[in-house]
Amino acid sequence: MLNIIISGAPGCGKGTQSELIIEKYGLKHFSTGELLRNEINEKTELGLEAEKFIVNGNLVPDEMIINILKSAIEKVPADANGILLDGFPRTVAQAEALEILMDGMSKPITLMVDLEVPRKELINRLVTRGETSGRSDDNLETIKKRLEVYELKTAPVSVFYQSLHKISKIDGMGTVDEIFSRIATVLDAKL
Ligand code: AP5
Ligand code: MG
Repeated sequence: MLNIIISGAPGCGKGTQSELIIEKYGLKHFSTGELLRNEINEKTELGLEAEKFIVNGNLVPDEMIINILKSAIEKVPADANGILLDGFPRTVAQAEALEILMDGMSKPITLMVDLEVPRKELINRLVTRGETSGRSDDNLETIKKRLEVYELKTAPVSVFYQSLHKISKIDGMGTVDEIFSRIATVLDAKL
């Protein structure tokens, strides 16, 4: 069983690589960003609340996202190949809650794959995507805020997984296929 976290700054390629990973390894994909954007599109109470944070480049509150993710993960069948978490955990409090949840189900997190991409490239990718994505957070001002929030709140999650010896830092520059082959080498070694 592979229970993987894919992490890294906004625009590092989490969503892009997730598609390839779930296909090769048959994992169930949970993207908290996608999940929240669906709620926003459907104008649910949760979506309306979350949107206030997302448009400003801030994180939604921990308790909100932890509860959503917990009930989603608990529905994964016992015989599944594993899960891929994209965009979660994003704070040390989320990581601690996740570790307790997964260990409690005897499905411990296998590894965090941490994609490393220089800031200039992150901004380029997101500004370019913003021309067509329709995402309310893909504008230069909000992108800069997202990168700031990443450094402050999410980079410490990498330190947390480093201390558990469950992290692999991957160079996130190059073609999508080159990056995927680096990730696959690391995941194959865990099977
Ligand atoms: P989320 O949706 O997770 O956004 P993000 O982390 O800002 O990252 P992105 O989805 O923008 O980028 P990505 O890393 O997936 O890269 P992608 O593959 O798309 O979160 C959005 C918001 O929701 C947060 O700000 C927060 O408010 C809230 N939220 C979500 N989870 C939360 C949580 N756990 N707690 C609290 N709040 C939470 O690629 C980016 C672009 O680059 C694409 O256009 C792609 O085509 C291109 N690209 C990809 N790979 C390459 C490559 N190798 N070369 C060139 N271009 C590439
Ligand atoms: Mg994404």
